Amino acid sequence: MKEYTPSVEIVGSAAAAAERAAERIIAWMSNRSPLTLGLATGATMTPLYARLVAAHRAGLISFREVTSFNLDEYVGVAAGSPASFHRYMQDHLLEHVDIEAARARIPNGMADDVAAEAASYEEQIAASGGIDLLLLGIGANGHIGFNEPGSNFASRTREVSLDETTRIANAGGFSDLASVPRRAITMGVATILEARHILLIATGSEKAAAVAAAIEGPIGSACPASALRLHRNVEIICDEQAAAALATWPQKKDRRRA
Ligand code: GLP
Repeated sequence: MKEYTPSVEIVGSAAAAAERAAERIIAWMSNRSPLTLGLATGATMTPLYARLVAAHRAGLISFREVTSFNLDEYVGVAAGSPASFHRYMQDHLLEHVDIEAARARIPNGMADDVAAEAASYEEQIAASGGIDLLLLGIGANGHIGFNEPGSNFASRTREVSLDETTRIANAGGFSDLASVPRRAITMGVATILEARHILLIATGSEKAAAVAAAIEGPIGSACPASALRLHRNVEIICDEQAAAALATWPQKKDRRRA
């Protein structure tokens, strides 16, 4: 297993991280078409998607030739539910850009047969030619997608159980903790590592331990994000709070103040 050093860029604020990530994606999209994107949900992504929507409105980028695959979805939450990742993607990106609806894929957490849905999702990714650029957030416990600690690095799209800490972190979209799903469908670690390029964004102090474990800790399933060091093309954009526990900080940083 060859280990690679990801490019780590540390900026002054969450807004600056979204701005920098948007710049990278806009530059990426302007040079490549057609393009298959991997997309993430979560609070970290919201200001980034706002910038991509603004760039689309300004005529800088088009999604006409884009196929997208979201990382994950809750099992048992309908697409129309306000807490679904389907709804999140519509609200924050898909409804506001010129993507062809049928080309914006999100795992179906309401499938009768989730294993069949997962297998079909893998086939669809392969049929699209694979993911060119995958956006990732990181969980406070080091998860990527919904690959919780303990996830095998050979894992593919599948149904998983959510950690209690993840359910608590994600409870905001639900009426109470009891309503937060216990299961999800997620791209696997191996599926993620097959993307040609990966851009991970981490902001806020609650991500600091996970960022340090991912970049400087042992590579292993205890921190699923550490698998990213097995990939040769990973860029990580963090704000200073999320970078605060890096032992090699500030030497590693390419500081761009907001
Ligand atoms: C979510 C998603 C992840 C996301 C992470 C962090 O539950 N499954 O794909 O990266 O947790 O989310 P946030 O950006 O809200 O902190």
